Amino acid sequence: MRYTVFFLLILFVVFSACSHELPSPVPDEGPDNLNRELKLEDFSMPESCAPCHPNHYDEWEGSMHAYAAIDPVFIKMQEHGQKETDKKLDQFCIQCHSPVASKLGHTPAGYRQEDLPPLALKSVSCTSCHSIVSVEEHKNAGAVFDPREGFRGSIPDPVSTPAHKSIYSELFTSSDLCGACHNVVNGRDVIIENTYTEWQSSPAAAAGQQCQDCHMPAYQGQAAVGGPVREVHRHTFVGVDVALIDDFPDREEQARLVTELLRSAAQIDVTAPDSVRAGGFFPLYVTITSLTAGHHLPTGAVADRQMWLAVTITDQATGEIVYQSGHLDANGDLYDRHSEIAPNLDYDLVVFNQQLVGETGDDVFFSWEAFDERTVTIPPLESVTPRYFIRLPGSVQGPLNVTVKLRFRTFPPFLLRMLALDDIAARLPIVDMAEWEGTIAVN
Ligand code: HEC
Ligand code: HEC
Ligand code: HEC
Ligand code: HEC
Ligand code: HEC
Repeated sequence: MRYTVFFLLILFVVFSACSHELPSPVPDEGPDNLNRELKLEDFSMPESCAPCHPNHYDEWEGSMHAYAAIDPVFIKMQEHGQKETDKKLDQFCIQCHSPVASKLGHTPAGYRQEDLPPLALKSVSCTSCHSIVSVEEHKNAGAVFDPREGFRGSIPDPVSTPAHKSIYSELFTSSDLCGACHNVVNGRDVIIENTYTEWQSSPAAAAGQQCQDCHMPAYQGQAAVGGPVREVHRHTFVGVDVALIDDFPDREEQARLVTELLRSAAQIDVTAPDSVRAGGFFPLYVTITSLTAGHHLPTGAVADRQMWLAVTITDQATGEIVYQSGHLDANGDLYDRHSEIAPNLDYDLVVFNQQLVGETGDDVFFSWEAFDERTVTIPPLESVTPRYFIRLPGSVQGPLNVTVKLRFRTFPPFLLRMLALDDIAARLPIVDMAEWEGTIAVN
C-alpha cells in the first residue's frame, strides 16, 4: 500500500514536470476551414493545369511555394519538433507548407514523407491558393479553402473553358491573401514571422502597393493557351531562398533572381577618416539603408536568416589583415556566441535576425520552444548606422584597404548541424547584397 502511494506520488511529480516543460507549443485550431465533405481529388494536381497554363506552371514549379513541403530543412525541423513535443506540433507546420493535404487529414502528426499522397508533396500548390474563398485570420493558415465552385483569380472577364469555372475575386489582388500564411504565431503568442503585419504599416501599403506588385510582377501575355493577351502575373515568387536539393527545377534561374532582388534591397555608405596614425584609434561609420518599402529587412523566417556586416581592413604594404568583423570560423559560423570554435570573439559583430528565447531566458532555436523573442531588423526604407572603433597596431605602414560588405544567407550553419544537415551547411550560398571599398592613408 505504501508503495502504491509512493508510486502514485512519483507519477504525479513526473507528470506535472512533463506538462510544465511542454505548455502548448502551438495555438488552438484557427477558423473551421476544414470542410469534411471535400476530398483530395477535388484539388487537382498542378500537372493537370500545365497544358493550358504552361507559363504559370513552369514558373511555380521552380518557386519556393513548390518546395515548402519537400525542403530538407523543413522536413528535418518538423521531425525534430514532433519528437521534442511528443507530436503536439501536429498540423501546425504542415498546415502552411502543404495546406490542402493537411486540412484534409492526409498528414497525420509524425507522418513519413514516403507515405504522403502526391498532392501533399506539391506543397503550396496551384489549388492551395486558387481555391481560397476567404481569409478569416491573417496568421497560421487562417484561410477557407473550397475548389468546388471553381478556381478564383483576379481576371474580371475570363474566357470560358470546359476545364473549370473561373471566379473573379478581389482578394487575389490584395496582400490579405498572402497574410493567411505570411504571419506565424506560436501557442504562446510569440511572433515567429510577421511579414503581413509589417507590410500593413509600411510605406508600400500606404501607397496602395500589395505583395503581388513586388513578388508577382505583371507582364503582357496569355493567361491560358488560346486566350487573349492581357495583364498576367509572374509565379516565380522570388524571395531570398533557393532550393538546396539537386533535382529541383530552375535552380540557377531562381538563384540569379534571388541575387538580383537582394542586391536591390539595401545600400551601404561608409564614413571613414582620410588618414590615420599608426598605433592610433579611429571610428568607422557604416550606414545601412533599406530600399525595401514592403516590410522589414530581412523579414519572414528571421530566426533562420542571417544578414550581417563583414568589415575587413588590410595593410597594403604587408597584405596583413589589421582588423576584421563579420568573418567566419572554420565551421562557417560567425564568431558570435554560437561559434563552437571561439564564441564571442567578434564583439563588434553587427547581425540582423531573430533570437528565440526559452522559458528561462536561454537561447532556443525552434519556434515551438520559444516563450519570447528578440528581433533586430531594419524597418522599411529606414537606415541604421553602427559605429566601429578601430585600434591600429603601431607596426602598420599603410595605406589601408577597407572593404565593407552586407552579406546574407538563409541559415546559420550551426542550426543546420543541429538538424544533422551538415552537407547542406557546407554548400549554403552567401549573397553579397552591397559592397563598399576605400583607402585610408597612414601617417
Ligand atoms: C502560418 C504559416 C506557417 C507555419 C504555421 C509554419 N511556417 Fe514555415 N514558413 C512559412 C512561410 C510563409 C515561410 C517563408 C518565409 C521566408 O522565406 O522568410 C516559411 C519558411 C520556413 C522555413 C525556411 C525555408 C527555407 O528553406 O529557407 C523553414 C525551415 C520552416 N518554415 C519550417 C517550419 C516549421 C518546422 C514549422 C512548424 C514548427 C513552420 N515552418 C510553421 C509559413 C509557415
Ligand atoms: C483546358 C484548359 C485549362 C485547364 C486544364 C485549366 N485551365 Fe485555368 N483557365 C483556362 C482558361 C481558358 C482561362 C481563362 C483565361 C483568360 O480569360 O485569359 C483560365 C483561367 C484560370 C484562372 C483565372 C480565373 C480568374 O477569373 O481570374 C485561374 C486561377 C485558373 N485558370 C487556374 C487553373 C488551375 C489551378 C488549373 C489546374 C488545376 C487550371 N486552371 C486548369 C483554361 C484551363
Ligand atoms: C515594395 C516591394 C515589396 C513588397 C510590397 C513586398 N515585398 Fe517581400 N520582399 C521584397 C524585397 C526587396 C525582398 C528581399 C529583401 C528582404 O528580405 O526584405 C523581399 C523579401 C521577401 C521574403 C523573403 C524574406 C526573408 O528574408 O526570408 C518574403 C517571404 C516576402 N518578401 C514576402 C512578402 C509578402 C507576404 C508581402 C506582402 C505582405 C511582401 N513581401 C511585400 C520586396 C517587397
Ligand atoms: C501563393 C499563391 C498562388 C499559387 C501557389 C499559384 N497562384 Fe496563380 N495567382 C495567384 C494570385 C495572387 C494571382 C493574381 C495576381 C494579381 O492579380 O496580382 C494569380 C493569377 C493566376 C492566373 C490569372 C492570370 C494572371 O497571371 O494574373 C492564373 C491562370 C493562375 N494564377 C494559375 C496558376 C497555376 C496554374 C498555378 C500552379 C502552377 C498557380 N496559379 C499557383 C496566386 C497563386
Ligand atoms: C497557403 C499558405 C501560403 C499562401 C496563401 C502564400 N504563401 Fe508564400 N510561402 C508559403 C510558404 C510555406 C513558404 C515557404 C517555402 C519555403 O521556403 O520552403 C512561402 C514562400 C514565399 C516566398 C519565398 C520566400 C523566400 O524566402 O524565398 C515568397 C516571395 C512568397 N511566399 C510570397 C507570397 C505571396 C506574394 C503570396 C500572396 C499572393 C503568398 N506568398 C501566399 C506559404 C504561403
